[in-house]
Formats: sequence, structure tokens, C-alpha cells
Amino acid sequence: MDFKGRHFLKLLDFTPKEIEALIDLAADLKAKKKNGQLVDVLRGKNIAVIFEKTSTRTRCSFEVAAHDLGMGVTYLDPTGSQIGKKESIADTARVLGRMFDGIEYRGFGQDLVEKLAKNAGVPVWNGLTNEFHPTQILADFLTLKEKFGKLQGLKFVYMGDARYNMGNSLMVGCAKLGMHFVACAPKKYFPNEDLINQCQEIAKETGAVIEFEEDPMVATKDADAIYTDVWVSMGEPDSVWKERIDDLLPYRVTMDLINNAKSDVVFMHCLPAFHDLNTKIGKEIYDKFGLDCMEVTDEVFESEHSIVFNEAENRMHTIKAVMAATLGAKF
Ligand code: CP
Ligand code: NVA
Repeated sequence: MDFKGRHFLKLLDFTPKEIEALIDLAADLKAKKKNGQLVDVLRGKNIAVIFEKTSTRTRCSFEVAAHDLGMGVTYLDPTGSQIGKKESIADTARVLGRMFDGIEYRGFGQDLVEKLAKNAGVPVWNGLTNEFHPTQILADFLTLKEKFGKLQGLKFVYMGDARYNMGNSLMVGCAKLGMHFVACAPKKYFPNEDLINQCQEIAKETGAVIEFEEDPMVATKDADAIYTDVWVSMGEPDSVWKERIDDLLPYRVTMDLINNAKSDVVFMHCLPAFHDLNTKIGKEIYDKFGLDCMEVTDEVFESEHSIVFNEAENRMHTIKAVMAATLGAKF
């Protein structure tokens, strides 16, 4: 399988076999890291990581993975470069493409990362857009595979705002890998029809089941995995909080939902999560709306079902696999 020179912008661009190969490569690189085996086969290469929105996991994963592979890294933060203000994405791409061997981009519309890729002349990796977060899905699926030994056929329930980057990307990933995906939310939070139709077409080939359900107890029945994400995403205005809370409170992941699923169900979240009052925004929401948690209760987050920190760790191993494959690393 040849990934060399390719971009990693969305899972729709990859075949099921290619996605599986990246997950397997990540598992291999993870085992090597645990054994203390160096993989610095990309010495002499350099990457740029552009973040127009903030990040903990994605930035650290790209930086640590690049260092492990022997590469240099330049970080461009949300305010410190000319991007978007004095220089277009296309011009930025043509500049950075002359200096770097690969570019990570986290920003707003998917069209921006696609434009960057079109103009860079080197591999571009999507570190999150409003529409998609494909490196997160590789990490989530590696984590699921570690737990269940397989992906095909697993019942995967996504609770909450399913029409944003996480809901969209997980639906595509589940369709590609033959899983049983259920988005559970009020209808207006279901992914857009065009993407649903694309996923239903993919599902015909892979045996996946793609469903939409408004009742949390119906959706979570016999689930292998229950996933959720924040109710208001980066870049959305604070003014949407009230509506989101009103709409999505019944879709919070509680112990009742966990107990309604299979006994070995896992709780998943891309993080960061609002599960207690130990964050600035969490406290503000408590003061304004009286909620001591949002999309997930602290009880579920801290329970033995929760595999959220395994997912976080696997961000690094899967991002390493994406960079290694697209930069043509030979181990
Ligand atoms: N899950 C995720 O992308 O986290 P960060 O925003 O911290 O990168
Ligand atoms: N939906 C969230 C995901 C964060 C990893 C956001 O876009 O802010």
C-alpha cells in the first residue's frame, strides 16, 4: 500500500483497507515505542504545524511523533503568523511547501485545509476542521481494537451534536469499517443529508449499519461503545450555549445509559470534556445555568468503562503512523 506523497484530509479519501493499514501501523509503532525501539527514520525532515484554533492533544501528538521520527517541528499559533490576515491560505501553502516536508493544519472550514493541500506540494494533514477530525478517528478506532480485538460489527453510539466534526468523522469511519453507527440527538443535530447519503452508499459495500435515533434508551441498548463530545465547539459563539443545553441535556451520557448498554460497554470522548467544575468554562456554565457537568457525568467519566485517556495516548501513535506513511518512512 503506497501512501507516500498523499494528504490526510478526511477519511472519505481512503479505502477501508488503507484505514485499517494506518491503524495497524500505529499499533506497530506503539509497540516499538513501548519496547524502547527508536524509529527516527525521517531524520533531516521538517514539518510545520499550524493551529488557528487551540489544542493540547493534537499539537503535542504531532510534535512528539515528529521528534520520535527524527524530524524538526515549527509551531504556528492562532495569532502569531500572517495566515488569513495578511496572507491567503494558497500563498501560505506555497511558502511553507518550499521549506517543509509536511504541514499539519487545524482551522475552520474544510475548504481551507483542502486549499492548503492543493497548493503546498507536500503532504498536508488535517488536525481538525469544523467538518472533520480524521486523526482523532484513527486513535479512537485503535483504542476500540485494543479493547475488543475487532471493529467490524461493533455497535457504536454517538450522543449529542452529531452534525459537527466528531459526529461526521465517526459516521464516515464506522461506515468505512463495517460498524453499526447510531447518532442519537434531536433531528436538527443529525449530520447533513449529503454526508449521510455518502455513508449509506459506503455501508452497502462494507456491511455497516448507519442509523439515527432520538431516544437515548433505544439508541444505547446493547451498545459496545458510547461516545460524546462537547456541545459547543471551538469557533462557535457563546450565544449558542443556552439553546445547546436546552436541546442536548437529555443526551448527556449518564450511568443509566451505560447500564442500558452491554456490560462491557466503553465510554469514549475525544476530550477536552466538561465532566466537572474544574475548568473556567465549566464554572461559568455552572454560574449561569446551574449544571455541574455537561455532555457526560463525572461518574461515567471516572468509571471503569471510560477509556478516554487511552484514546488520548493513541492520538500520538496514530498521528505518527499518518506522518510516517505519507512521508514514505521505511522501518
Ligand atoms: N481531541 C483533540 O483534538 O484535542 P485537542 O483539541 O487538545 O487537540
Ligand atoms: N467538536 C470539538 C472537538 C474538539 C477536539 C471542537 O471542534 O471543538
